Amino acid sequence: MSLETLRDKVRRAEEGGGPERRERQHREGKLTARERVELLLDEGSFEELDQLVEHRCLDFGMADQRIPGDGVVSGYGRVEGRLVYVFAQDFTVFGGSLSETNARKICKIMDLAVEMGAPVIGLNDSGGARIQEGVASLAGYADIFLRNTLASGVVPQISAIMGACAGGAVYSPAITDFNVMVKDTSCMFVTGPDVIRTVTHEEVTKEELGGAMTHSARSGVAHFAVDDDRACLALIRELLAYLPSNNLEEAPRRPTEDPLDREEVALEELVPSDPMKPYDMKLLIEAVVDEGRFLEVHELFAPNIVVGFARFGGRSVGLVANQPAHLAGCLDIDASVKGARFVRFCDAFNIPLVTFEDVPGFLPGTGQEYGGIIRHGAKLLYAYAEATVPKVTVITRKAYGGAYCVMSSKHLRTDVNYAWPTAEIAVMGPEAAVGVLYRRDLQAAEDPDALRARKVEEFREKFANPYVATDRGFVDAVIEPRHTRARIVAALEMARTKRSRSPPKKHGSIPL
Ligand code: HXC
Repeated sequence: MSLETLRDKVRRAEEGGGPERRERQHREGKLTARERVELLLDEGSFEELDQLVEHRCLDFGMADQRIPGDGVVSGYGRVEGRLVYVFAQDFTVFGGSLSETNARKICKIMDLAVEMGAPVIGLNDSGGARIQEGVASLAGYADIFLRNTLASGVVPQISAIMGACAGGAVYSPAITDFNVMVKDTSCMFVTGPDVIRTVTHEEVTKEELGGAMTHSARSGVAHFAVDDDRACLALIRELLAYLPSNNLEEAPRRPTEDPLDREEVALEELVPSDPMKPYDMKLLIEAVVDEGRFLEVHELFAPNIVVGFARFGGRSVGLVANQPAHLAGCLDIDASVKGARFVRFCDAFNIPLVTFEDVPGFLPGTGQEYGGIIRHGAKLLYAYAEATVPKVTVITRKAYGGAYCVMSSKHLRTDVNYAWPTAEIAVMGPEAAVGVLYRRDLQAAEDPDALRARKVEEFREKFANPYVATDRGFVDAVIEPRHTRARIVAALEMARTKRSRSPPKKHGSIPL
């Protein structure tokens, strides 16, 4: 190949599907694949691989339609100086569709990522399997799914959905650790509106079916919904800063000026004196973490549990917190699955877990029981029990029944369990307990309300406090709310050298 031919090929690769199609991307509010890669990575750090690869399809007139790079830009670069691997589907080239060679490019960088121990970021914008290539394209997808699975728990995998992602193609992002969807310009579905109309006669728009808001608030498929491509790429950079490059490393430390023993007097007033009154658990999180900075994951999905990343003393932690401001903080199916997935991710990547607990129990009702709250609730229990990273729990108010056991209790190998003086640790809430224990007395009483009130008070005195659990050592200490940050920092520092192990096995059988 002459130097001239080489230059021509490189130019054609960089042009992608040509100016008109690039212009169309911009008109639709989307950046091109190359623009996205440039914005994602540290300036000038991108090293492209396989830029000149072309497809080998000879059918449907494809022999005359070859564009170097074949619809995906792939390679490696740096984010805040750390190595990452990236592929970006180029919608201007055959709709970013996945061909045999295009899949090989993606597989190559995934293999490199696992070998070198660095995250993989996939920027998805594609019409799916390249129709002209038939089964060769499907095989390419399967090759990617296999690699997603093998890389799971070894290197972080992040998917950005920045355009179409339909059919079986959704299953690669589905296996990755985080999905970021761009509002208005992205969609994900297994079968689109047209097929749905034919099969079930339902009328639904693309956006309603699989837009960013649908997947971030309803299905939970997306962990983040962002306004545009730039916000998407900035968020991925922010997320990466909390994560280690692989499962053998720790997350990078970010020096902080925030005093480790900072007291927050306002926390003394956070829990209302009326146990039925809600409050916002995020106020506690923001009050105690470094600089109040909290990257919430799955913010719009199952808001009765809050999960996300923050730092204590410059070190990353995964935070899991019941949210009394939604459904009184009850655990339901969605909250259990959301929490379990997050706990397992943190455990796989050596990120300590801090849990803030205020949970009246699992959500009652036929909807939950028929939906399998037993099976799904067990996932959260399993995930916490299995996790061997440092674990610290703070009970702020209610820790009732099975939910007490589930939410990183001492019994699940949690290293340090604290409670605030307002904690209530009991088999169930006082009202429910009195209803069970004194049913006959209440039926026979002349003034059942007075009896109920007296018994509730007695029960509250006896059980609705942290001291029975402290007597047993199930809670290590009752702490003053204002000291929460300092106590968590100390507990995490103590547990840094933790060497916890589980019995050898191929893998467990988490109730899926
Ligand atoms: C080849 C494709 C393509 C595909 C789009 N193009 N999808 N080429 N294979 N799968 C081409 C178009 O022909 C067009 O070429 C260009 O990409 C842009 O597409 P448009 O249709 O003009 O774009 P738009 O109107 O924005 O619509 C985007 C779209 C639509 C919604 C993605 O193109 C579409 O419905 N495509 C087919 C989607 C699909 O059914 N894919 C298979 C899914 S099943 P020109 O030359 O005109 O620019 C699947 C199985 C995976 O993926 C299985 C894994 C196990």
